[in-house]
Amino acid sequence: MDAKVDGAGAGQTARIRDYRASDAPELARLFYETVRSVNRADYSEEQVRAWAPRPPDPAELHARAAGRRTLVAEEGGEVVGFAELEEDGHLDTLYLRKDVVGRGIGRKLYEAVEREARGWGLGRIYTEASITARPFFERRGFRVVRERSVMVRGASMTNFAMEKDLPPG
Ligand SMILES: CC(C)(COP(=O)(O)OP(=O)(O)OC[C@H]1O[C@@H](n2cnc3c(N)ncnc32)[C@H](O)[C@@H]1OP(=O)(O)O)[C@@H](O)C(=O)NCCC(=O)NCCS
Repeated sequence: MDAKVDGAGAGQTARIRDYRASDAPELARLFYETVRSVNRADYSEEQVRAWAPRPPDPAELHARAAGRRTLVAEEGGEVVGFAELEEDGHLDTLYLRKDVVGRGIGRKLYEAVEREARGWGLGRIYTEASITARPFFERRGFRVVRERSVMVRGASMTNFAMEKDLPPG
């Protein structure tokens, strides 16, 4: 039962569902546009161009997403976010469409990922968070394990190895 609520109820108009093959082209565009605009607040033009030179090939994105637990956030029948969780608790991907950022949908999507991980009996979720996403993960109870400097297509980028323990129960 989704209700339209403001403030504390933000994100309630979105629903979380399983990924479908037909989502791939939209997810490719979403990823590209979010990196080029949202992440541009924390990374240089050169860095976001290296991170997302062009929208990923939908067939390649599908091959990756289909081999993992990929969840999609949908609002008004449109895909507005996605997350990919690997079997060992690695959260490889969490991206929201640029025009819905900051409305609580990422939180809702993450909570679904965490429920999934707990359901598998995992004791930990870990990720490599962007500078942009670090505060989001800290609010979700993650801690920074270390700051990393990675080379992506010739550009040096900072991100953070972060993890969260999932105690049983
Ligand atoms: C990071 C991201 C997934 C968060 O999703 P979102 O829908 O924008 O976040 P929400 O609106 O659900 O925010 C949830 C909480 O995080 C906090 N938060 C989110 N971004 C924040 C920021 N930049 N600074 C401080 N707090 C932040 C919110 O205040 C909110 O706190 P609350 O739960 O206590 O109310 C999304 O902004 C995004 O796609 N960013 C760009 C792509 C990216 O960097 N992805 C991660 C790749 S590693």
